[in-house]
Amino acid sequence: MTAPDISSPADRRLRAAWLTDVLHRHAHAYYVLDNPSIPDSEYDKLFSELQSLEIAHPELMTADSPTQRVGGMPLPQFDQVRHSVPMLSLANAFADEDVVAFDKRVRDGLASIDEVDYATELKFDGLAINLRYEDGILVQAATRGDGLTGENVTANIRTVGAIPLRLRTAHPPKILDVRGEVLMFKADFARLNARQREAGAKEFANPRNAAAGSLRQLDSRITAGRALRFFAYGIGMLEGAELPATQCGLLDWYAEIGLPVCHERAVVRGASGLLDYFGRIGGMRSSLAYDIDGVVYKVNRVDQQQSLGFVSRAPRFATAHKFPAEEAMTQVQDIEVQVGRTGAITPVARLIAVSVGGVSVTNATLHNEDEVRRKDIRIGDTVIVRRAGDVIPEVVSYVPELRPATVREFVMPTCCPICGSAIVRSEEEAIARCSGGALRCAAQRKGALMHFVSRRAMDVEGLGDQLIEQLVDKNLITTPADLYKLGFTTLAELERMAAKSAQNVLAALEASKSTVLARFIYALGIRHVGEATAKELARHFGKLDAVMEASEEQLLEVADVGPVVASAIRNYFADPLNVELVEQLRAAGIHWVENQVENQPKPMAGKTFVLTGTLPNLGRDAAAAMIEAAGGKVAGSVSKKTSYVVAGEEAGSKLLKAQELGITILDEAGLLHLLESA
Ligand code: IVH
Repeated sequence: MTAPDISSPADRRLRAAWLTDVLHRHAHAYYVLDNPSIPDSEYDKLFSELQSLEIAHPELMTADSPTQRVGGMPLPQFDQVRHSVPMLSLANAFADEDVVAFDKRVRDGLASIDEVDYATELKFDGLAINLRYEDGILVQAATRGDGLTGENVTANIRTVGAIPLRLRTAHPPKILDVRGEVLMFKADFARLNARQREAGAKEFANPRNAAAGSLRQLDSRITAGRALRFFAYGIGMLEGAELPATQCGLLDWYAEIGLPVCHERAVVRGASGLLDYFGRIGGMRSSLAYDIDGVVYKVNRVDQQQSLGFVSRAPRFATAHKFPAEEAMTQVQDIEVQVGRTGAITPVARLIAVSVGGVSVTNATLHNEDEVRRKDIRIGDTVIVRRAGDVIPEVVSYVPELRPATVREFVMPTCCPICGSAIVRSEEEAIARCSGGALRCAAQRKGALMHFVSRRAMDVEGLGDQLIEQLVDKNLITTPADLYKLGFTTLAELERMAAKSAQNVLAALEASKSTVLARFIYALGIRHVGEATAKELARHFGKLDAVMEASEEQLLEVADVGPVVASAIRNYFADPLNVELVEQLRAAGIHWVENQVENQPKPMAGKTFVLTGTLPNLGRDAAAAMIEAAGGKVAGSVSKKTSYVVAGEEAGSKLLKAQELGITILDEAGLLHLLESA
């Protein structure tokens, strides 16, 4: 939300007072209750609005303004600890240009013509802590607090298994202040929240709040049950030992004396090295066991760090490169329902457009009616929207302070908005469904077709949602088999289509005919059969006919298949219309290599492949599926453990790295040859 344009002094005073009040309340919720009511990025926006107001109109500044206090406030329940060396914060970079500018400032500051070496690390999303070791023994632990004074949390920190109580060295320094981050792994967070839910206790908003809440317990037995972790990344006071010459050397030393450090750390050169690192980490972010909100760049040489020094509360030699915020605040204009491919009715919030994670979001899912009630989201509310990675944006919560009197409650319709059939909700399900089925309900028909052609299913490139919409609306297709009967003229005459795009769609349909069994099973869209189950079915039965003829007992022998899934598969193939669809698809020429029978040795088992660049014919997903079908693994980055790198056109740094490490490099033909001969 943008700041209102205020010109009258009275309005300005009101706005400043409102901002002060709101910021105080959010700061309390965040720091004291460990339960934030708005995203950090929104807090930062309100904070900087107040800050700019105060700078332009100093008479507005009050003694208790939130701008006068930096960082968290120490809790009165804990003893206070004055840090020997202040705990600073980092300047932020968001865009590539900010990083280039940071590197330029560093080089200017060092009067260096050469490129600078940087130590690069992850920016852990937890809370900063100072660990004091005297003669190698942990004697005190303190939170960052306001940077100068923190809370004494020694008793709680002693319960954290990852933090050594004694350093593993025969010659410990007299005094060592280790700086690092306490955090909670995502899996431990999920387990904790499940436990809280079962106990009827409040759930935590995210792993960072769970970590903060766990560390600031007055009873350290509670902390002990909370699976906290720690990574060391910096140093405060040091006496009785030589400071390592580089940041990288510091972390190596830490690792040696038993402190956990970031595995993904690296030393890179110049701005391009920094940006490569950012891209690499962005690509693997979701596979990390814990949350990070960016990466941190530090000039590697300590002598250079010292000559660069500090500006106000942040070092000149380091910066944080943040990922775009995954949460933002906006307003719900309406709540409508969407009909999915299985008839599921999903309430969707129509939003005032807002940028989340770098993408403009206007719709966010509310999952189901119970969720709307549980979260108490109403039309007109200001809400927090989250979008993590590729997942569909969702409404997390509403902001009570900003609820207008005019909000309206959502009412679940009784009839499908698309086909008018009754909406029914069975006792055991949270989901309401349109009873029309794919034959009557165009939304379900479209959904099934979109699923069929989607990337992870039959992967028909160029056949997007809008094209399917047109084809169904014009009654040109009903089932997936109809797709393969489409002619050039029909396609070329559709809106936003021309000869070239029609040809491309036909070529993509043709290419999709050569597939793997797991994809085909997944593409059918059988209820409860996701990608993983489809793979298990293909692996177990080897042939489609065997899946189609399997009894419920036989289906239950498949890993991943329980009674609900088994009965869904049986019901699907018991319907003659579905059997006919499969036959039509096979008659249209869809084929795969059958017989990856269970227990058959996987020729590529234990081999790791990395794909890079564009392969001339195979899509990336198809290549990965073939490798996995042969038992191989597909990894994102090249290391000594990589067995093969499959390189297509415009392969970049991964290819260079493979050449450096002497790893076998294959092109598409080489890959196919390897898989076939194995
Ligand atoms: S160095 C003098 N390194 O980010 C620099 N901080 O905005 C001090 N953080 O309070 C910080 N990961 O809680 C540093 N690898 C990392 C970090 C990191 C997370 C946090 C830390 C600090 C905040 C600064």
